[in-house]
Amino acid sequence: ALGPAAARAGYRLEAFDAVGSTNDEALKCVRTGEGGPMWFVTASQTSGHGRRGRAWQGPPGNLAASLLLTTSVPVNVAATLGFVAGLSVSDALMRLAIGDASITLKWPNDVLAGGAKLSGILLEGESRNDDASAVVVGIGVNVVSAPDGVPYPATCLADLGATVTAEDLFAVLSDCWVERCAQWDDGRGMDAIRSTWLERASGVGGPVAVTSGPREVRGTFETLDADGRLVVRTAAGERVLVSAGDVHFGDA
Ligand code: BTN
Repeated sequence: ALGPAAARAGYRLEAFDAVGSTNDEALKCVRTGEGGPMWFVTASQTSGHGRRGRAWQGPPGNLAASLLLTTSVPVNVAATLGFVAGLSVSDALMRLAIGDASITLKWPNDVLAGGAKLSGILLEGESRNDDASAVVVGIGVNVVSAPDGVPYPATCLADLGATVTAEDLFAVLSDCWVERCAQWDDGRGMDAIRSTWLERASGVGGPVAVTSGPREVRGTFETLDADGRLVVRTAAGERVLVSAGDVHFGDA
């Protein structure tokens, strides 16, 4: 079920008992030119995708939700909706009193609990013209189980002692999205949400190493720019903007 605010805001919902990938379902609509806002949601995703071509495990009980949106902004601006998504997940956990201060955001779009990954976000979409784009915001939350064999620490809501179901979490999350997105949508985009994101982010002001393809950038994580790029100050004083990559905090 959608939350009341999402329903009032005119969001539609298609729920699946099980489905390959909710992002793929939403992308079918992108291809046929259908508009949103519409959520595609399941608590059993059988072949989910993660960032950088990785698989995303979605065993029964975990939440997979993808939002189809048509926006009147170019894709680089629409890409900052990933930050709205991360904030919405953390808002929902706060509202449900799950995890408290252990919940942090990790650039670009992960949500962590005690440093272990709880939620991942995958944005896909296409540009419709110079100032319109169709975007799919895919959100996966480990509710009842954490993935096996992944190269990073992972956790789930059940491990945090929470008994919430994927469906109940989604009802709250869809409302939190509507509220955060309204902030973003008032025309200020990243500027409207940057300070909240930075307050909840891990590693701001500290050392960071980012791998982006063959390149490695090391320095201090200063802030995010208007496009959501990571602003890194290197030891040599150079200001480097990073738009994608794997981030490692600390000196390691
Ligand atoms: C990542 O951290 O690599 C991103 C994971 C994104 C997973 C979600 S689950 C819902 C949606 N459907 C998919 O196939 N992927 C996203």
